[in-house]
Amino acid sequence: MSYRRGALIVLEGVDKAGKTTQCKQLVHALQQSGRPAEMMRFPDRTTQIGQLISCYLEKKNNLEDHTVHLLFSANRWEMVPLIKKKLDQGIILVVDRYAFSGVAFTSAKPGFTLEWCKQPDVGLPKPDLVMFLQLNPNVAAERGEFGTERYETSVFQRTVQQRFEQLMKDTSVNWKVIDAARSIEEVHNDIKVLCENSINASENLPLGELWK
Ligand code: TMP
Repeated sequence: MSYRRGALIVLEGVDKAGKTTQCKQLVHALQQSGRPAEMMRFPDRTTQIGQLISCYLEKKNNLEDHTVHLLFSANRWEMVPLIKKKLDQGIILVVDRYAFSGVAFTSAKPGFTLEWCKQPDVGLPKPDLVMFLQLNPNVAAERGEFGTERYETSVFQRTVQQRFEQLMKDTSVNWKVIDAARSIEEVHNDIKVLCENSINASENLPLGELWK
């Protein structure tokens, strides 16, 4: 049986690693090579849930930590029908942050375990490839000041980085670590090669379920 579905490709990393730039370049490169590809990002701030999250990040509202964690997860779940539809149509989805950011950021807060944080996202469509843009916090700091949104401090980002490192030990997820300290072009070239392999490999495989 031939599935020929699109691949689900995720880019993760701490702030300033260049995720958004790389996602856009990847989608562009895929489209140029004649492949249907689209970008998605989480949080998706356009939905009602996304607007609550956006206000929280902009510090316009305060939400209890468990509550906001569940909202981030709900924001992914509400997109699942669309994700599945697009993949079924053969569209490659390039996603800027996913459940891994969800777990890394909340578990960087006091009193949260990785296990608890993962639960709401168990069963989400499983990415065929998760590329982690690795950037030393000192190099990240050299890329300029952090913004003013919640979580944008170097102390918090260091803890987030450690949580990502714990998540990357899980071999059930297809993690690839990319050195993001190099030029945009060099990073892009690495990403393209990894994607090519993954797109071809996943084309005929059923979509998996995350952390299940
Ligand atoms: P953005 O800057 O990529 O729009 O991400 C917004 C912030 O939200 C960023 O600091 C990471 C954080 N975040 C979470 O805390 N949980 C999540 O599930 C996601 C996707 C992002």
